[in-house]
Amino acid sequence: MTNVLVTGGAGFIGYHLSNLLLRKGFNVTVLDNFSDYYSVKMKQLNAQELEEAGTKIIHGSILDPESVNKALSNEIEIVFHFAAQPGVRYSTANPEKSLRINIEGTSQVLTICNKKKIKKVVVASSSSVFGLQEYLPIDELHPKNPISYYGVSKLTVEKIVEITRRLYPEIDISIIRPFTVIGARQRPDMAINTFLSSALQGKTINIFGDGTQTRDWTHVDNIVEATYLMGTMPNARNEDFNIGSGIRTSVNDVLKLISDETKTELKIKYVDFDKADVKDTLANITKAEQILKYKPQKSLLIAIRAFIDDYLKNRSTFTQ
Ligand SMILES: NC(=O)c1ccc[n+]([C@@H]2O[C@H](COP(=O)([O-])OP(=O)(O)OC[C@H]3O[C@@H](n4cnc5c(N)ncnc54)[C@H](O)[C@@H]3O)[C@@H](O)[C@H]2O)c1
Repeated sequence: MTNVLVTGGAGFIGYHLSNLLLRKGFNVTVLDNFSDYYSVKMKQLNAQELEEAGTKIIHGSILDPESVNKALSNEIEIVFHFAAQPGVRYSTANPEKSLRINIEGTSQVLTICNKKKIKKVVVASSSSVFGLQEYLPIDELHPKNPISYYGVSKLTVEKIVEITRRLYPEIDISIIRPFTVIGARQRPDMAINTFLSSALQGKTINIFGDGTQTRDWTHVDNIVEATYLMGTMPNARNEDFNIGSGIRTSVNDVLKLISDETKTELKIKYVDFDKADVKDTLANITKAEQILKYKPQKSLLIAIRAFIDDYLKNRSTFTQ
């Protein structure tokens, strides 16, 4: 059985990725510090479920060399590095935290991976590295001019990967740039989560801007499938991939879907557009389709339904 490490495995994407890897028959270890950026209980629930399914959970920070060394001591062959301080808006208020965790943390993980002669690493970057779009859909060659501290932290992560590839060619590092990920157990700070949880609780939904902004909302199952392919397919060696659904939908259209699905009249308040937010995103997934044979199988609507279903089952945990 192949031993793999998922950093950030107690979080939203890491939880779904770890589950997929378990289903594929891997021996999964998770390194996570259960950061209090959002409900620690929510992460504990994720970790508990993973542990019951056979995952080894290590409680520790990617900033702490001892924890990273411990996590990589298990004859790990593939590392999926998803631990991070996410959140564009959070990074406006707390730039030092986003920069430190994402940049120093990734540098630490890659340095120790290199020392331990790990064969393959998949690093989570973000579509935020692109900043304001110069054209749509956004391919891997689109200029990278981030407009948030979070975007800068991820662009620096990509630069660290490039340097590591150059200095240590024996390590194979691929970069995934997910476009707005949605589904069950989505982070509470993310738009669809706040829209849906407010709708389900009858609260007012604040929309930044006029709601005409569009996103490539991507079901988390599509993202983790692409991540798995990147970690296991030999032709993904040292490649970067933009991963989305390849479809963009406006915030106003998403609100309509949510109103239909929750059968509620939404209370909406339009507030000023956030300067750290981009207007539109849409992934060009041609490279992933060609090299990885990636096919986004699950739609925005399926992700919304999965979120509602899980939210209603686990509401007491998720609202804390
Ligand atoms: N969710 C999205 O739409 C999206 C889009 C693009 C990129 N990403 C990237 O994907 C990754 C996962 O995002 P997510 O949405 O699942 O976020 P998340 O916050 O749910 O997951 C991140 C996990 O990392 C852990 N973590 C934070 N700091 C840590 C540290 N110092 N040491 C160890 N663990 C630490 C957290 O406890 C959490 O469990 C991140 O790298 C994020 O930047 C996410």
